Order: sequence, then structure tokens, then C-alpha cells
Amino acid sequence: MINEKIRQKLVLALDVETIEKAKTLVDKLSPYVGVFKVGLELFCGCGLEIINYIKEKNSDFFLDVKLHDIPNTVERASYNIIKNGATFFNVHTTGGIKMMKSAREGANKASKDFNTKKPLILGVSVLTSIDEQTLKDELSNKKTLQEFVLDLAKNAKSAGLDGVVASANEIRLIKKELGDDFLVLTPGIRPLWANVDDQKRINTPSNAIKNGADFIVLGRAVTKAPDVVEAIKKIYEEIEKEVQEVI
Ligand code: C5P
Repeated sequence: MINEKIRQKLVLALDVETIEKAKTLVDKLSPYVGVFKVGLELFCGCGLEIINYIKEKNSDFFLDVKLHDIPNTVERASYNIIKNGATFFNVHTTGGIKMMKSAREGANKASKDFNTKKPLILGVSVLTSIDEQTLKDELSNKKTLQEFVLDLAKNAKSAGLDGVVASANEIRLIKKELGDDFLVLTPGIRPLWANVDDQKRINTPSNAIKNGADFIVLGRAVTKAPDVVEAIKKIYEEIEKEVQEVI
């Protein structure tokens, strides 16, 4: 029996180059995964072709396009995302409050025009591939990483977004300041047995859920495993063993 509380939190990153590979992952993993995430690799390669396939499997669809442009462009892009059937997507918080408000307006307008469910929009705070040193040296940021993430999350909330993308290490701070209802989706998830790859601010699936994550993103830890179903089953076992709240 699949633990539905865990399933609803798991987001699988379909970071593959062809629609066939993406469909194979959806076929194998939809019993275990509540949300499939289409990011830039698959979107630039195949567009939104996979969307209906995912919806037919009783899973949600998250378009990880991380919009970052002038407000007018983001508003029009957000409108088109909803028009084309995705109701869950993200923008960069560093695009500013006006840009995030425009995303909300464009999405809400399309939702009304095409009678969809309420769009869920998250703001990417600081990418999990960026650490404190990079933030200081390359991005000229004078705040600590946690302070910066929190400020960006506050902006996202004031612009009317539903939550943010942040690392598992920042969830408690965000929830404490902005409330439990403000969603946090966390990439940079690595079970202890997985490779770290290019991620910097990582944590395990169990710790992310203990810290209060609404969604955790599983990428290469599962998709590059020799057996993707075995890998995800192992993650379920670890979460069920370590996190009381999901049992
Ligand atoms: O393979 P891995 O677990 O590192 O994949 C993480 C996924 O989450 C990738 O699809 C990446 O684009 C996405 N992501 C991220 N950091 C963010 C937002 C999204 O790693 N801040």
C-alpha cells in the first residue's frame, strides 16, 4: 500500500531529453509520485506535449520554467501557461514584486477566461546550486543567505504568490515568519546514498519533510538510479522510518 501522505509531497523532476523517456518515467513512477515536474530541458525539447499524459495518470503537473523578465512579458507568458493547461508553475522572485504581481494577474485572468482551477504560483528564492560564498562573490549580495531567502519570500507573499522554492535548510525560517500555509517546495534533495552533483544546499528527504516541506523534488537521485522504482521505494522506507508525522 502506497502512503498517500508521502505521495502527495513527492515531485519527480522529468529532466530527460525525449518525450519517450519522460513517459517511461511517468509510467513507472506515477503510483509513487503526486506531481511530475517539467523543467527547461524537457520543455525546450518537447513543449507541453507530456501534460495530458501526466494528468491521465492521476498526478499533478508542475511547469518549472522560472520566468524572469519584464512584468508585461511575464504577465503574457503566465496567461499562456494557464491557457495551455498547466495550473502550477514558477517565476524568479529576483524579478521583483511588480513582476510577480504581473504573473499572478496574467494567470488569474487566464484561469477566469478558461475556467481552470486556481493557479498555484511559486517564487524561486535562491537556487539550491548557489551557496553563501557564491552569493557574496558573484552576486554582490551583502546579506546572509538565510536573510536574503527570507526577504525574497516576503516579497513573494506580498505579491500574492502561493509559496516559494527554497532549500530544506530554510523551510523553518520561512514558515515561522510567513505562516504554515505559505507553501515551500524544496529541490536539492539527496538521500545519504545519492551523489550530490551540482547542488550545494542539500538535505535528505526525511529532514526536508521534518522541517515542514510541502513538496520535495526528487531528481537525479531517482532518475539516474539503476532501478528507479527500487530507488523511490527506498526513499519511502526511509521517510516512513524517520518521520513520525507521515505515518
Ligand atoms: O537532479 P536534482 O535533484 O538536482 O534536480 C533538481 C531539480 O530541481 C532540477 O530540475 C532543477 O532544475 C530544479 N530546481 C533546483 N533549484 C531550484 C529550483 C528548481 O534545483 N531553486
